[in-house]
Amino acid sequence: MEHSLDASRREEGVKAQEGRLVPKDEWLQKWQTNNIAFHVEQGHPFLRKYLDIFLNGRTGLKLFFPLCGKAVDMKWLADLGHSVVGVEISESALKDFFSEQNLSFAEETVPEIPGAKLFKSTSGNISLYCCSIYDLTSTVIGKFDGIWDRGSLVAINPCDRERYANLMLSLMNRQCCYLLVTCSYDPSKHKGPPFFVPESEVRHLFGKCCDIKCLEKKDSLSRIPEKWGLDYFWEIMYMLVLK
Ligand SMILES: C[S@@+](CC[C@H](N)C(=O)[O-])C[C@H]1O[C@@H](n2cnc3c(N)ncnc32)[C@H](O)[C@@H]1O
Repeated sequence: MEHSLDASRREEGVKAQEGRLVPKDEWLQKWQTNNIAFHVEQGHPFLRKYLDIFLNGRTGLKLFFPLCGKAVDMKWLADLGHSVVGVEISESALKDFFSEQNLSFAEETVPEIPGAKLFKSTSGNISLYCCSIYDLTSTVIGKFDGIWDRGSLVAINPCDRERYANLMLSLMNRQCCYLLVTCSYDPSKHKGPPFFVPESEVRHLFGKCCDIKCLEKKDSLSRIPEKWGLDYFWEIMYMLVLK
């Protein structure tokens, strides 16, 4: 009995999240007030642990960071000889990235995207677009050998997931390795973001075009603000490759 009550509460949580829309200003406000608990100062442990699988012996890769924030992994991978492209709506996040990583950069306009800016490291191997991810297409940024999706699919509005997934698929080249980190928790307790993305959703979004393998499932409750009131929080990483 208690079990079915739990299940229906959880289902209500999923429904509530499905209707949630996070306006751009809410994200900008998070950056303005330094409310960025999602930022990982030391780089994400999954990326470090699975680097060899991600690279698969390849060098000089072109890597994409959707909704990149100021992820320190971008500098780490660039230092390993890869070129990194990111996209982020917050200009201050991108400027923080360059200043905190001691990188000089130049600002350019993007002729194909009115209002967008491109921040390019002087060395040329990190290009960060300041615009909405939905403004980008493979015509503008090309296709990628690898995608690191952490805090991205789980952060976009749930109603935009099909559009987002189709964009990611359009950015994958034949050899692309797409590492996707999702999270699992009781959605009746926290409204998101991050949103709860079950494995069935990952399979629904990508399963037609990709082989999907779960590589890791880690208890990350200790990293989550206590005020969310969660009693479990799992980070789950999948590897997606085109069929
Ligand atoms: C949860 S944070 C994750 C940042 C980064 N991936 C990380 O792991 O630290 C999500 C980021 O997406 C940005 N964002 C939200 N909606 C966006 C959109 N439509 N296009 C580009 N960036 C967006 C937010 O400003 C925020 O920095």
